[in-house]
Amino acid sequence: MIRGVGLAVPEKLLTNSDLEKIVDTTDEWIKTRTGMEVRHIAEEGRDTSDLAAEAVQRALDDAGMTVSDLDAIIVATVTGDMQFPSTACFVQDKLGAKQAAAFDIAAACSGFIYALSIANGLIASGQFRHIAVVGAEILSRITDYEDRATCVLFGDGAGAAIVAPADGSGRGILDTYLRSDGSLHELLYMPGGGTKYPASHKTVDEKYHYIKMEGREVFKYAVTAMGEAAEYILERNGLSGDDVALLIPHQANSRIIEATAKRVKIPPERVFVNIQKYGNTSAASIPIALAEAKQEGRLRPGDLVLLVAFGAGFTWGSALLRF
Ligand code: ACO
Repeated sequence: MIRGVGLAVPEKLLTNSDLEKIVDTTDEWIKTRTGMEVRHIAEEGRDTSDLAAEAVQRALDDAGMTVSDLDAIIVATVTGDMQFPSTACFVQDKLGAKQAAAFDIAAACSGFIYALSIANGLIASGQFRHIAVVGAEILSRITDYEDRATCVLFGDGAGAAIVAPADGSGRGILDTYLRSDGSLHELLYMPGGGTKYPASHKTVDEKYHYIKMEGREVFKYAVTAMGEAAEYILERNGLSGDDVALLIPHQANSRIIEATAKRVKIPPERVFVNIQKYGNTSAASIPIALAEAKQEGRLRPGDLVLLVAFGAGFTWGSALLRF
């Protein structure tokens, strides 16, 4: 079960009107095509692990637990501090979580659902009791602010959940569903920085260290895959949209969110949307939304919550929680 949630976002803001001054775009276009108004941007010197550690500390506070309770830290990110060691190790050090195992997973925007599924399995096997599952990204550092098709979309932030064994009350992670299709990787990727294209003058000149995306194609796949993942996990558990107290979808585009909700017949008042405040924060978007939903009183103990995400890879998936 999820015992506590927390979020951390940088203070600096990037508004649509700021973007109008950088690229050929308009506030109107961004709002109507994406639903976004503002993003948070990490200040120089602030690392992904800083945001992640803050989010974990807030989730621990929310759970009434301390760092010494943590057996493991899993960070879902595609913008880790370094290629290695893992960002989770930096978080472990910053928190002083001496006894905790630490590792990252990379599944882009689906990363939090993938990490939650792994944590659930590790707890069910009896290996660990308390795991901090974090989604943390500083996407502004891999965004090309000369490319209007991508730079309006992304923001920075982190969210965390403390996952613990079920307490016998029926609350807990009921099911998770994970999928992928690597044949479509060229629709959304960052070519540079890995072993295929190690840093060189060529990779820098050709902007290989920035996000490359075929937005229209990604949009089509995202609508289909998120709808399918939401529908499938409900059916597999003998449930329908009527049973869901809150749908928390990955915040990539308000039109994708609307299409997903429609497919499982969940009305807008039971869909959590905060894309206007943060843009797309990839793996951080669902845990930020979870923490905010709890803060706003939209998540009560015993509520059925449906999480659904889609991201680069492609990866996609869903999770059903009794909160
Ligand atoms: N401002 C103004 N015009 C723009 C902008 C902009 N920022 N960006 C693109 N346009 C133009 C295009 O050039 C195009 O012009 P044209 O018709 O003259 O060629 C027109 O707007 C329409 O472009 P489309 O790409 O078809 O616009 P679309 O309605 O598909 O919206 C968007 C683009 C917002 C990127 C959408 O496709 C989308 O959200 N796709 C999914 C993106 C996504 O979810 N990515 C993340 C996945 S998760 C992860 O792993 C990070």
